[in-house]
Amino acid sequence: MPSDHSLLGFAIRRARLAGRALLEASGAPWFVPLDKLKAEAAKSAHPLVSFANYDYLGLSDHPAIKAAAHDAIDHIGVGALGSRLVGGERQIHAEFEERLAKFTGFDGCLTLVSGYLSNISTISYLMGKLDLIVYDQLSHNSIVSGVMASRADRMEFRHNDIDHLRAILTEHRGKYQHCMIAAESLYSMDGDIADLPGLMKLKEEFGCWLLIDEAHSIGVMGKRGRGICEHFGEDPARIDLVIGTLSKTFATCGGFICAQKMVRDFLAYTLPGFVYSVGLPPVIAAAAGKALDILEAEPERVAGLQRNGRHFLEASKKAGLNVGVATGDAIVPVHFADIKTTVAASAHLLDNGIYAPPIVHMGVPSALPRIRFFLSARHTPAEIERTIQVLKEFSAALPAAAAN
Ligand SMILES: Cc1ncc(COP(=O)(O)O)c(C=O)c1O
Repeated sequence: MPSDHSLLGFAIRRARLAGRALLEASGAPWFVPLDKLKAEAAKSAHPLVSFANYDYLGLSDHPAIKAAAHDAIDHIGVGALGSRLVGGERQIHAEFEERLAKFTGFDGCLTLVSGYLSNISTISYLMGKLDLIVYDQLSHNSIVSGVMASRADRMEFRHNDIDHLRAILTEHRGKYQHCMIAAESLYSMDGDIADLPGLMKLKEEFGCWLLIDEAHSIGVMGKRGRGICEHFGEDPARIDLVIGTLSKTFATCGGFICAQKMVRDFLAYTLPGFVYSVGLPPVIAAAAGKALDILEAEPERVAGLQRNGRHFLEASKKAGLNVGVATGDAIVPVHFADIKTTVAASAHLLDNGIYAPPIVHMGVPSALPRIRFFLSARHTPAEIERTIQVLKEFSAALPAAAAN
């Protein structure tokens, strides 16, 4: 038992446990001063190349999106200034939600102020003490936190292992009133894709609700960027809840829930994360709405992103880098043997004008540190090749035990 019970003492002990000393000593690139780096790079021959940001379609500084935001500020204002249920809503909320619903193949959509909140609130609110949640072992923390916050029983199935999910449902489904299966679409840390047809089949066979987190697949997967259903040619109506975010493809922030209209309306009156939280700022709805216009009008951005993802994956494999189970869809992790090597590799990339942070425990299991690369439609083939070359040279210089 520690003798110091203060919050400060607790924080220091926990930070030590998280390896803070090691990470700080080895110059880990956390919280890098991005503005400063970009300004410095602009003066040099090589601009900073970032793989740290999920700007999938390269819309983060699109002039039309900025103009839409300016216009919304001038005509509507910045904030929603209240929960929409009681504070009233702006026309742009309904218009944007209708368009998002249509785009994803649903007839209902509800926006919240964050993707994280959308998962946590939806899962914890819907699932009660007579219920069961079965979720993929590698689910994002917002799913896991929603599961933990609910009063339902919970079970993990092995990552993307449909046979394991079937075994759990066969043994346990009958004991519960409702059962939710929760999974991601494109996995945020490993860059592989959920077996959606398998999940749909089991959901129907065992009478479950299926929640799919499409944070990383809207604008990314499918010919027109409509997500994992378009990728597999499946009918979105076979999913009960799609959770999405505006922070990635839509280059702003906020979350959304797509569902059947009756479900959406029920959530609009009751979901705590919606009812007891401020509405999406109208300026964000305007900017994200413009991003949706561009996504619909320029499917070549989706094709460019998909090309870059495949290029990065193939070039990494060719260079002998360990990309785990990644499928080359916008997220590619490169694994290293230990945290120290991962941090050093990331620092080495930054020295070469390439920003891609290390992902270590708690974000991923402690034995599986990695650098995670987010691809964008905006990356050039030359940037991808140079990045792989820098990593290849770094790996070649490692002692055999540290190579992975
Ligand atoms: C799979 C997944 N779901 C949800 C979220 C949370 O989204 P937001 O950043 O909009 O809160 C993230 C964030 O990166 C994510 O990767």
